[in-house]
Amino acid sequence: MTDGVLWGGRFASGPAEVMFALSKSTQFDFRLALLDLRGSVAHANALHAAGLLTDAERQGLVAGIDQLSEQVRAGQFLPEERDEDVHAALERGLTDILGADLAGRLRAGRSRNDQIATLIRMYLREESDRLRTDLVALIDALAGQATTCMGAPMPGRTHMQQAQPILLSHHLLAHAWPLVRDLERLDALGGRLAQSPYGSAALGGTTLGLDPQSVAEELGFSTSVPNSIDGTSSRDLVVEATYIAAQIGVDLSRLAEDVIFWCAQEVGFARLDDAWSTGSSIMPQKKNPDVAELARGKAGRLIGNLTGLLSTCKGLPLAYDRDLQEDKEPIFDSLDQLHMILPAMTGMVATLVFDRDRMRIQASAGFSLATDMADWLVRRHVPFARAHDIAGEAVRYCEARGIGLEDLTDEQLAEVSAELTPDVRQVLTVDGAIEARDGVGGTSTARVREQLERLMGVVDGYRG
Ligand code: ARG
Repeated sequence: MTDGVLWGGRFASGPAEVMFALSKSTQFDFRLALLDLRGSVAHANALHAAGLLTDAERQGLVAGIDQLSEQVRAGQFLPEERDEDVHAALERGLTDILGADLAGRLRAGRSRNDQIATLIRMYLREESDRLRTDLVALIDALAGQATTCMGAPMPGRTHMQQAQPILLSHHLLAHAWPLVRDLERLDALGGRLAQSPYGSAALGGTTLGLDPQSVAEELGFSTSVPNSIDGTSSRDLVVEATYIAAQIGVDLSRLAEDVIFWCAQEVGFARLDDAWSTGSSIMPQKKNPDVAELARGKAGRLIGNLTGLLSTCKGLPLAYDRDLQEDKEPIFDSLDQLHMILPAMTGMVATLVFDRDRMRIQASAGFSLATDMADWLVRRHVPFARAHDIAGEAVRYCEARGIGLEDLTDEQLAEVSAELTPDVRQVLTVDGAIEARDGVGGTSTARVREQLERLMGVVDGYRG
């Protein structure tokens, strides 16, 4: 074997320097070292079960792998300059511990193709747990604020224009439900990740009578892949994980945008805690929503990782192609980024302080009760199209006089339409408008309390 690579035999010379630099992947794949070593133990057991290792050889190999694992864990064993990839580095380490004769037996019946395809799935399964915990923490922070602020109104918007009064808690929970669906997506992916490609070898399986199912079970998979070609050459599950990460990024960017808006001075709905904001190097008064801005910005990067990986996979012939090595950096980056953004967003959300008085005042601005006026007319049997016209005229009437709908006198109401009797004022209040929207999923306090409970019920199923 040429130093540092696993394929020297048929080559008269070693790789050119630039070729080696291009090929080398330890700078990103060494993070899979412990998973690779776990795979090696299972593989040693499979070789033993197939009669290819004696009891003593199996024991010796497992002991050597354990020792190397300890060194990796302690940071004492690291890739060297000449190691081509994580697999080559670990074989070098094992050879140093056990000698070439014993260490060199482990590679029988496996290929880096089935190894890496298995490792990335093991990695995604571990990372899904971490991501799940981070997501639950953010949902808890949103739910915590929703609980504290229960009953507080705010202006609801469509097209960024004030539309109808809603409960702040309702709005906060509207950012929590997409994250719940992300949890569900992760869960579904987990089911698909439960198949192990180990035993597929280079592409067609092995001649050595190894049992892929027992290796799968030893590694915590429920089964081995049904097709060794697909097992070694598909990366759709990595793409799917990258998509989920991008979707989380997009979900976070929408929450981030709201927080940034709420903290603008002209809006003044929320204030950031000092620990979760930054200052300006030139403007002493500034308190900037950097957490939210970085979360919003990183969504672009997460989407880029997804489109890059999809493009890499497009049109690749079966079976394994080296292009597939390009799957790792995008998904590693996406998950690393989320592991920073999610806890930061959680800290920021949990410590936001809302100006409820200001939000209440704004809740009735912009003629946001016009729909309530139209609905009131409908309840009096006016056709909605006409009711819409009348309420629209009332808005125009008020706009011309610089007053709100609730300021209209009895006479002014009558002037707009004979159908607008003084009773209409009962629905022209923010609280009335909110409490009247009492269908399931609506903004009335009882319904928002109900959905909060429902949310917590779903999220409890995802706690570790
Ligand atoms: N570093 C490779 C990857 O990440 C491992 C498999 C390499 N296989 C090979 N035949 N060169 O995909």
